[in-house]
Amino acid sequence: MKTILVFAFLLVFAGAVLAQEKPIVIETKNTALVYKQGFGNKLVQVYYGEKLKNAADYEMMNSRNEAYKPAGLDNLNEPAIRMVHNDGNPSLALNFVSSEVIVENENVKTTMIVLKDDQYPVEVKLFFKTYFNEDIIENWTEIKHNEGKPVMLTNFASSMLSFKAREYWLTQFHGDWDKEMIMEESQLTSGIKIIDSKLGTRANKFQAPLFFLAMNNQATETTGDVIAANLAWTGNFQFVFEIDELNSLRLVAGMNPFASEYYLKPGEVFKTPEFIFTFSSNGKGQASRNIHQWAQKYRVLNGEGNRLTLLNNWEATYFDFNEDRLVELFDGGKKLGVDLFLLDDGWFGNKYPRSNDRAGLGDWQETKEKLPHGIGYLVEQAEAKGIKFGIWIEPEMVNPKSELYEQHPDWILKLPNRPENLSRNQLVLDMANPEVQKFVYDMVDQMMTKHPQIGFIKWDCNREMTNAYSAYLGEKQSHVYIEYVRGFYKVMEDLRTKYPELPIMLCSGGGGRTDYGAMKYFTEFWASDNTDPLNRIYIQWAYSYFFPANTICNHITSMGKQSLKFKTDVAMMGKMGYDIRVEEFTPEELAFSQQALKDYARLKEVIWFGDMYRLVSPYEESRAALMYVSEPKDKAVLFCYNINAYREKITNPVKLQGLDPDKKYEVKEINIQQRGDGRRPPFGGNSTRVYSGDYLMKAGLEIRVGRGDLSSNVYEISEVQ
Ligand code: DGJ
Repeated sequence: MKTILVFAFLLVFAGAVLAQEKPIVIETKNTALVYKQGFGNKLVQVYYGEKLKNAADYEMMNSRNEAYKPAGLDNLNEPAIRMVHNDGNPSLALNFVSSEVIVENENVKTTMIVLKDDQYPVEVKLFFKTYFNEDIIENWTEIKHNEGKPVMLTNFASSMLSFKAREYWLTQFHGDWDKEMIMEESQLTSGIKIIDSKLGTRANKFQAPLFFLAMNNQATETTGDVIAANLAWTGNFQFVFEIDELNSLRLVAGMNPFASEYYLKPGEVFKTPEFIFTFSSNGKGQASRNIHQWAQKYRVLNGEGNRLTLLNNWEATYFDFNEDRLVELFDGGKKLGVDLFLLDDGWFGNKYPRSNDRAGLGDWQETKEKLPHGIGYLVEQAEAKGIKFGIWIEPEMVNPKSELYEQHPDWILKLPNRPENLSRNQLVLDMANPEVQKFVYDMVDQMMTKHPQIGFIKWDCNREMTNAYSAYLGEKQSHVYIEYVRGFYKVMEDLRTKYPELPIMLCSGGGGRTDYGAMKYFTEFWASDNTDPLNRIYIQWAYSYFFPANTICNHITSMGKQSLKFKTDVAMMGKMGYDIRVEEFTPEELAFSQQALKDYARLKEVIWFGDMYRLVSPYEESRAALMYVSEPKDKAVLFCYNINAYREKITNPVKLQGLDPDKKYEVKEINIQQRGDGRRPPFGGNSTRVYSGDYLMKAGLEIRVGRGDLSSNVYEISEVQ
């Protein structure tokens, strides 16, 4: 319905432009991506970078970089597309046919460029959706043909972009379970560098589907020409960076073609996921802010809406709980002042109760022994205590020790004639199969219909695909990676039609699924099972490059030896929550946390929706500092973490950014710790001090750290008249 409405408002602008000589200029506020009809009838990319003052200047540009270079003819490089036709001919010639601009509103336009083969009935459409004010381009491709039988696609990029620079610097983000988003920057050398995933589900456990690419020199937070990009796909992805003999760089981005030949039927449209990118000539900070604004406004579910603070029971109890214990825990949540209690793994399974991770997955009925009165009772009890109730599920997975496995062995991805390959004692359900999609949808729908008061879901996915084989897909096994993700999106789409508002956290054995394909359907994501606050500074720092603060769930837990203050200060820089035994808090710790939650409620607007400035990187110094500034620049929150005071004495002030130099600001430290942290009082003993914005940005603020290795400070900065 929504889609129909959107289309009803679309205005087709200027009609189709045929065989044009003039450049096709795809513009945003500060950037331009320019195409032209080049040699022969080929479409070539002549420019991507800072917008020129005079549009006429683009006409002077030339290039031989074909926009979406096919394989099979004269192409000597990595192709964007490769197709084998009905007659076995493995070549494609894509000629420019037309372009048109579809205007959605003042800020959002889509340029569509049509390319066709002159020998075979094949049409390729390139789409560039621009978000003018945010400087964001979403680029995807639609492939269609009209041959007698299916053609085989072996490559099907979302996007191909070309660059010319002296040097290219790639910043990638990689890791593993418990070590998500390690940032690494390296200079690209001639030949090919590939960043990809072949993991299927939990696809970005090792490599995240996002990167920075800086031209000529390394980019800093405030300087340099840099592209920030990501692929909106919750499955196998591939980014190919190829530097050729002329030192030109071609980037090919899209779903991973690995083991994924696609048999495309006549008339069927093969739509690739969106490759989303922005260009900044002022370094990485601006690129991140562009992505944050776009994400909150246009991509993340309820991106500009509220989020609930919560108390989760995973690290507090693991599988070891019962009804009474949970009800006790609700009290902790209420006392703390969070909005919601989140019941994690371990509440389901009867024939095979889920008392550890070896059994029960797939059997989504409450374990009678643990929860004799069911979820309904828990919801009621939580509500009676004045907090909402949320619940964990992992609907795409199954333990062999489950009734689901016994009843539907054909619903599981597993190879015939090979032993099962278990990971965390579980297997992956075949989301390519519509019956499985229905099972997953019904499971959530039935739970929500029975307990409409459930206020939150945590959707987990704890393993990658191995031995992947879909009984449903039969001969088309090479579609499994793609159809799995499409099946997952289909379920989410249907669930969102019925439950458009319900907050759902995307989780994948920590942060194994953090991409903007999924974030359309989710309000937030679990960044990592590593909740040690020292490690979290790095993890959250890295996520901050691509995700806004209200999407990154940061929980205060018992992991790590740091003070509760340090943990709280770290969690506060995103979406704060708790996963801790509140009853073990001292009265002082409880009072501190209650106050922190009150402060957070007051400041969350700035933290979530303000402009983020990363000031001091933990990758460069023994401390980290970042801040958020409200749009009118009347309010800011500054977070500083000293991560190795023992090794280094830090005296250089932290220079703030994003403030108004002409305004006066009162700086006040909050989250002041309980006694005994060795801290000297701030501001010469006064609780606040007033500075000009000019001073704070040019001279900076000297941060007084505590005596321990790990200390932290949070400052509330408010305009004073
Ligand atoms: C992995 C998640 O990342 C954890 O937070 C927790 O929900 C467990 N799964 C439960 O099995």
